[in-house]
Amino acid sequence: MKPISIIVAIAENNAIGKDNQLLWHLPEDLKRFKKITEGHKIIMGKNTYYSLPKRPLPKRTNVVLTDNAGEQIDDCVMAYSFDDVISICDPDKENFIIGGGLVYRQFLPIVQTLYITKVHAFFEADIFFPLIDPDNWKATEIENYFIDDKHPYNYSFVTYRRKS
Ligand SMILES: NC(=O)c1ccc[n+]([C@@H]2O[C@H](COP(=O)([O-])OP(=O)(O)OC[C@H]3O[C@@H](n4cnc5c(N)ncnc54)[C@H](OP(=O)(O)O)[C@@H]3O)[C@@H](O)[C@H]2O)c1
Repeated sequence: MKPISIIVAIAENNAIGKDNQLLWHLPEDLKRFKKITEGHKIIMGKNTYYSLPKRPLPKRTNVVLTDNAGEQIDDCVMAYSFDDVISICDPDKENFIIGGGLVYRQFLPIVQTLYITKVHAFFEADIFFPLIDPDNWKATEIENYFIDDKHPYNYSFVTYRRKS
């Protein structure tokens, strides 16, 4: 099985986005995202691609999913189905599903690792992450951080591995 992981930032009410934007600005989360994903394939839905302030994201292969057969986006690898994504993923290097809601929902059942930033606040949103079922997932690493002048919310970095 190819190594595929999810990376996502989730609020207490599972909110992840509104009006095709993120709900917070947490510089340390962006730093962590960059550190984990650089040098890897990142896979995203077309909405998430167009939500990126700078696109494609540098130093990563940007894979963009669309149903629109034949559509091309400069400097991106296109995928037109779930199976396309699986065949594009590297066999021996971690691949990252980076959003959004529709894409997380499809890939959560098959990924092995979740890199979650838990934002300890509640947000009004139109896109939510599905339930992380404790029967299937074990938190293996947890780091907690607190409000400071650049981070208006407490947050935690949590890594989950699928229970075998
Ligand atoms: N908090 C976080 O960590 C985080 C991370 C990423 C995104 N987000 C947020 O999530 C929101 C966007 O999520 P979203 O659910 O609206 O959209 P999305 O998942 O980014 O993109 C959905 C689009 O991707 C394409 N797609 C998805 N699955 C496909 C498949 N199996 N085959 C072919 N095409 C497929 C379709 O594009 P076509 O319509 O072109 O067919 C679909 O409309 C934004 O608010 C964004 O800020 C949050």
